[in-house]
Amino acid sequence: MNLPLRNLPQPSAVLKDRLGRRFDYLRLSITEACNFRCNYCLPDGYCPSEKEAPLSQREIETLLTAMVQVGTRKVRITGGEPTLRKDLEDVVRICASTPGIEKVAMTSNGYRLYKQIDALAAAGLKHLNLSADSLDPRTFQAITGHDKLAAVLKSLDRALALGLQVKLNLVLMREYNAGDLNALLDFVRYQPVSLRLIELMRTNDNIDFYTRQHVSGQKVLDQLLDRGWVQQPKSPLAGPALELKHSNYTGSIGLIMPYSRNFCADCNRLRVAANGNLHLCLFHEADANLRPYLQRGDKQGLSELLQAISYQKWAGHRLQDNDSRDTHHLAMLGG
Ligand code: 5AD
Ligand code: SF4
Repeated sequence: MNLPLRNLPQPSAVLKDRLGRRFDYLRLSITEACNFRCNYCLPDGYCPSEKEAPLSQREIETLLTAMVQVGTRKVRITGGEPTLRKDLEDVVRICASTPGIEKVAMTSNGYRLYKQIDALAAAGLKHLNLSADSLDPRTFQAITGHDKLAAVLKSLDRALALGLQVKLNLVLMREYNAGDLNALLDFVRYQPVSLRLIELMRTNDNIDFYTRQHVSGQKVLDQLLDRGWVQQPKSPLAGPALELKHSNYTGSIGLIMPYSRNFCADCNRLRVAANGNLHLCLFHEADANLRPYLQRGDKQGLSELLQAISYQKWAGHRLQDNDSRDTHHLAMLGG
């Protein structure tokens, strides 16, 4: 008898837009709340408002099942800060146990992670992005408002020991970290970590900060190439990051250059905010409110809506024209 090797549900129709981009990657924000005050994101801290409750476990389960039907294979849990959600372990378990989901990832600021990381790994978390915008404790505190670099690095070591694939997110800022490239590179010399160097993005709340601190990703790329880093060929379904490697380094670099031409051509992601709004782009207002479908448990209706809506995804953001649309900060959508 011929048994299928993997009994995964096949997508009934893979989501594609007018430009032929496929969306196999969902970024799911499970809370807008955050305990950090990153200077480029929430410099005054998170302000709770009278907003709707974040998606419940049942709603998340419904969402993922419908998304798998239209081709989602990878989920990244984001926030705000996802560890602030008390049921994070259950959320990870739901993601990991949804048939068809092959990769469960999470982005965290790492502050509260150390105590939870073993349980999250046991629940099925396989990929972790930790935000650390400086490897100097004082600069880290100046950026985030918290003296917590050691805690973040402790979580990173534990995640590696548990066998997770780890990336370190660093937002490039002229006066805070852009001059430290050599020290940052030293970090990945022996650590099997991918350092994500992210070009600062302009949001409606950080316009002056952005103007002072933005560093061109292209300049950083030139510096890396000068130091012998080699750009890796992109696989057709890879996301927008540029991957670089160097034979003397264990780790790698991912350069995220949202202001470069063609950045959006490789977009492979959809975003769902904690309130159930679907955003086809980080810099576009909500394209649909999925909540009524999620509350009814209407997976079929949701798949049909996703098909229809994704087709309309626009070609790219307009950040280069200083147009961030309605995006006030990325805690709204988890970056
Ligand atoms: N520009 C670039 N990256 C940002 N992030 C948050 N706000 C911005 C911004 N304005 C990053 C965080 C985190 C990820 C979720 O998004 O540093 O690593
Ligand atoms: Fe919080 Fe992330 Fe925004 Fe920093 S960047 S304030 S950790 S949501």
